[in-house]
Amino acid sequence: MPRFETTETLFAPDTVTAVGVRETEDGVEVLGDDALDPVRPLVGPLRVSGARGRVSRGTVQIDDAIAPVLFVGLGDEASAASWREAAGSLARSCSDDGAVVLALPSTTADIVEAAALGFALGLYRFDTYRTGRSEEDTHPQDVPGLAIHGLDADEAENVFGRVRSIASAVWLARDLVNTPPNDLSPDALATAAETSARAVGIDVTSLGVEALERDGFGGILAVGRGSVRPPRFVRLAWSPEHAVARIALVGKGITFDSGGLSLKPPTSMVGMKSDMSGAAIALAVVTTIASLGVPVAVTGYLCLAENMPSGSATRPDDIITIRGGTTVEVTNTDAEGRLVLADGIVTASEEQPDAIIDIATLTGAQVVALGERTTGVVGNDDAWTQRVLDAAAAVGEPAWPMPIPEELESVLASDVADLKNAKPGHRAAGMLVAAWFLSRFVGDRADGSGPIPWVHLDIAGPSMNSGSAYGVTPKGATGVMVRTLVAAIESLVPRD
Ligand code: BES
Ligand code: MN
Ligand code: ZN
Repeated sequence: MPRFETTETLFAPDTVTAVGVRETEDGVEVLGDDALDPVRPLVGPLRVSGARGRVSRGTVQIDDAIAPVLFVGLGDEASAASWREAAGSLARSCSDDGAVVLALPSTTADIVEAAALGFALGLYRFDTYRTGRSEEDTHPQDVPGLAIHGLDADEAENVFGRVRSIASAVWLARDLVNTPPNDLSPDALATAAETSARAVGIDVTSLGVEALERDGFGGILAVGRGSVRPPRFVRLAWSPEHAVARIALVGKGITFDSGGLSLKPPTSMVGMKSDMSGAAIALAVVTTIASLGVPVAVTGYLCLAENMPSGSATRPDDIITIRGGTTVEVTNTDAEGRLVLADGIVTASEEQPDAIIDIATLTGAQVVALGERTTGVVGNDDAWTQRVLDAAAAVGEPAWPMPIPEELESVLASDVADLKNAKPGHRAAGMLVAAWFLSRFVGDRADGSGPIPWVHLDIAGPSMNSGSAYGVTPKGATGVMVRTLVAAIESLVPRD
């Protein structure tokens, strides 16, 4: 994590000063008061671009000294969102600089938070497996510090504390997803969850195979059977006094998805270390909510298994029993996410939360429909779905609502069990079919007023960035939806 500071010194030879520039009809405008006048004449000669995320380097003479300057393009508006994305790009272009002074045109809390958060998210890198780097070096302390010019020190501590919590959560999710599957078994992920959760005083329970058998977790056991590395189920509970609401977060945690006996073709299998993203994100959200002390009770349910083919693997044709008693005919062992999530959603429902949110790299069909950046959102309650969509928009994570058409019931009708997990050869609306399956496991409210509100996030595409880094998003694991879920949960707390 970068060091965050405030400073009164704007230009100095040993620090880089970053200033925001915007595109206007009359050309490129440097944002800020007359303190920035010394750099304004440089815009033309250096051909500074105001395009969002473009960073141009120059130097300015102040008295007898020469000071380095970075011009950060914000696009055509200087909103908090532009600052967040532009600061991500800024961080990547100054990772070799010792310290960066950021001259913001306004130091309101939303702009400072956006810029500092964008900077921290943009600095992320994953170097653990490069030779010559020890584990301690992965996130070196000597990454650039960020000093914000002219910010009040008391206010700064609040904002910086918040930024550190949220950015560390996103970094944690990214680290876990980037870790290769030979080093991240279900057990290793459970242990990582225990370590992070205990550090912030969260209650953790981890179930191994014996407990899973005792408690009827037939989905997780079926998916994990083919691997020599046994499945796990982890429950993490942040239970503050005087909680204003109780939320359940269920995460898909397939540490590697080979497809099982319904084996994936080689090119589809590469990247399937990311199939535990939902669990990593759920973990990151619960721990941040706890570290921020948000008065909402949040319980995370991590459904952890490795989906492998072997002599002990679940077969297509097997019939399994999900926790709670629903039987499922397994027609495709590669539709494993819905099986582990079914156990998780049933378990979450038993505790009667105010709402359940599950998060999963669930379907290739999500990528076909919405691409690599937009999360698919479905739900059974319009107000809850909208709350999550609003939170996503507020933090700048693209998300789009999708329906669960009732007629999909016939797709998963089984001749021999209550349901089947997939229809062989059926390709239409794969994201929605998976969502329809999950909806069958959402419990009813104890007062008989209908199902517990539930939102499902399919992040198959957005969990990984296969292209180059952009804005706050690095290559590889993105940690997408950590910020959305934190914002959605915080939105439940009434403002004073
Ligand atoms: N983990 C995959 C989904 C996935 C695909 C995630 C691409 C990230 C990128 C999931 O378990 C899966 O294999 N889904 C199948 C379901 C099908 C067999 C009904 C799919 O989408 O092909
Ligand atoms: Mn699969
Ligand atoms: Zn999967």
